[in-house]
Amino acid sequence: MGVTLSTLQKMRVEQQPIVALTAYDYTFARAVDAAGVDVVLVGDSLGNVIQGHGSTVPVTVEEMVYHCRCVSRGLTRALLMADMPFLSYPDQASAIRSAAALMKQGGAQIVKLEGTQDQAKIVEALTMAGVPVCAHIGLQPQLVDKLGGYKVQGRDSDGAKRIVEDARALEAAGADLLLVECVAAGVAERIRAAVNLPLIGIGAGVNCDGQVLVLQDVLGITQGHVPRFSRNFMTKPGQGIADGLCAYVQAVRARTFPRADESFE
Ligand code: KIV
Repeated sequence: MGVTLSTLQKMRVEQQPIVALTAYDYTFARAVDAAGVDVVLVGDSLGNVIQGHGSTVPVTVEEMVYHCRCVSRGLTRALLMADMPFLSYPDQASAIRSAAALMKQGGAQIVKLEGTQDQAKIVEALTMAGVPVCAHIGLQPQLVDKLGGYKVQGRDSDGAKRIVEDARALEAAGADLLLVECVAAGVAERIRAAVNLPLIGIGAGVNCDGQVLVLQDVLGITQGHVPRFSRNFMTKPGQGIADGLCAYVQAVRARTFPRADESFE
């Protein structure tokens, strides 16, 4: 039986950590699925790690659909989540068009969009149309040019309060899942307490309902800057890729990842 949104909700209630990881092609989708990952994200991080761009901004819906189709053929159990790329959801009609492409052509089972409470109407429209939605709050990498870099979000009390309000508003708009990036562990805990949705974190401390990382970071093959919140799981001599992926799954399940030095205060 494959992972569904109900599975994730049950895992949240039973406090079993959810393991999510990116994949962008068939071979790695098979490996990640076999390792026991619950949610496979075809992230627009493919702009960085597959296409070699400096950000996720150039990624198109067509490119996302292509990678989703490759990944979907490799999955037997994990839920397939796909990113809505930058400027593919500026209004309700375009959001529905982009989600339709990702789900109908790409085989995605849930779409993820970056946003705040300002995107609540978009989430509402997708929900009304029957599209499962993950709302990505905190750091929004698609806004890197506006933010002037990848920075920890919600550092002051107003900022932290705003992110908690974003989470509440997006839940009320119908989001099925929340993903929070680059916030202090305490802010993630406040979000988790404020909503009834599974909360997956990246750079958000250990007390989320689950964790997600970029595959290349887990395999220790990222070119250039490696974020402090990620971990290379391929450090044991003679270890194969399957072992590294299983080590990541086990560390998330055992809550030994992330450590305090891989989180923000
Ligand atoms: O695109 C991506 O891989 C993501 C993760 C960093 C969560 O959104």
